[in-house]
Amino acid sequence: MNVLPTGICFYISVVVCWFTSRVDASWWYMGTIGSQVMCDNVPGLVNKQRQLCRQHPKMMQAIGAGIKDWIEECQYQFRNHRWNCSTMARDHTVFGRILLRSSREAAFLYAISSAGVVHTLTRACSQGELESCSCDPEKKGTSRDSKGTFDWGGCSDHVDYALRFTQNFIDAKERKQRDARALMNLHNNRAGRKAVKRFMNLECKCHGMSGSCTVRTCWLAMADFRHTGEYLRRKYNGAVQVVMNQYGTGFSRAYRKFKRPTKSDLVYFENSPDYCVRDLESGSVGTGGRVCNRTSRGVDSCEVMCCGRGYDTSRVSRTTKCECKFHWCCAVRCRDCHEVVDVHTCKAQDGTTWLGQM
Ligand SMILES: *[C@@H]1O[C@H](CO)[C@@H](O)[C@H](O)[C@H]1NC(C)=O
Ligand SMILES: *[C@@H]1O[C@H](CO)[C@@H](O)[C@H](O)[C@H]1NC(C)=O
Repeated sequence: MNVLPTGICFYISVVVCWFTSRVDASWWYMGTIGSQVMCDNVPGLVNKQRQLCRQHPKMMQAIGAGIKDWIEECQYQFRNHRWNCSTMARDHTVFGRILLRSSREAAFLYAISSAGVVHTLTRACSQGELESCSCDPEKKGTSRDSKGTFDWGGCSDHVDYALRFTQNFIDAKERKQRDARALMNLHNNRAGRKAVKRFMNLECKCHGMSGSCTVRTCWLAMADFRHTGEYLRRKYNGAVQVVMNQYGTGFSRAYRKFKRPTKSDLVYFENSPDYCVRDLESGSVGTGGRVCNRTSRGVDSCEVMCCGRGYDTSRVSRTTKCECKFHWCCAVRCRDCHEVVDVHTCKAQDGTTWLGQM
């Protein structure tokens, strides 16, 4: 691990980068402290973040409580991958040393965490949990869409408020650092925040004679976070490897084969480790013990997941609900069925059967 004072990339026909030993986004740790966020107990917050934390205890509580939601979304999106978004227990960096590397995975984590905060705060505003915000005050009177005019009614999610607060709070840290990695984080944070805004839907209710829809009341509602998760997952697949430009003010793509990054693309500097073996240095937990799919041809196949080390097969019996019948009226009754299935799990790196944490 190189520990140099700043993140520096040289662009001399090939790209050479070094980064500082900075690790964490710190505020991620708020999720593990519990609902009573004590601003002074979160390690690594910068002054401005501490200040915002003290001024907005309810917001912090919401952010802390929402952290598990975006981590779950991350784990869902990467459930079939070697890197599965696993967290480190009792570690204030939350995701461990994998964040030291300016990889595609780090890019994704910064994006989805920012998106998660926007989502959480927007929801909390609409539900009246916060004093400083509520429904979008500008969505009143009448407006039009492709189906004609409608009245604003109900509660429109005020995503712009959450966007601004999230940017202020989360970006404060990167704005202090001002090195290459900070620019990368800022870029991915923004891509994540904006992603939430793509999934705002106009929802309407019809009024008028027997539902004739002569009068419509509509409101803007944020879609389920799954949509944002899937979108960012696609952005992860298409993430662009970049280098700092000559002036250190922005990025250019590292290789011609990449497209030019736009504001909505995720960007990263360094290639990822293969995440095959347990490696404390890079923070990879390895794939020993992971379940793989013997018939798949994709990333969850036993070949790819186990990195060629082979796998063990065990018979597991499961109980499932089956032969469900609808009974008039109104119940569904099922039988318990027992089935025996083969579960394949990757061998550990020394070829032995995985016996849990070593
Ligand atoms: C991710 O993988 C690790 C080890 O490879 C495993 O211990 C953990 O349970 C997995 N996490 C999730 C959320 O699937
Ligand atoms: C394994 O992969 C196959 C092919 O992609 C898929 O049809 C099947 O549902 C997968 N099995 C499990 C248990 O995920």
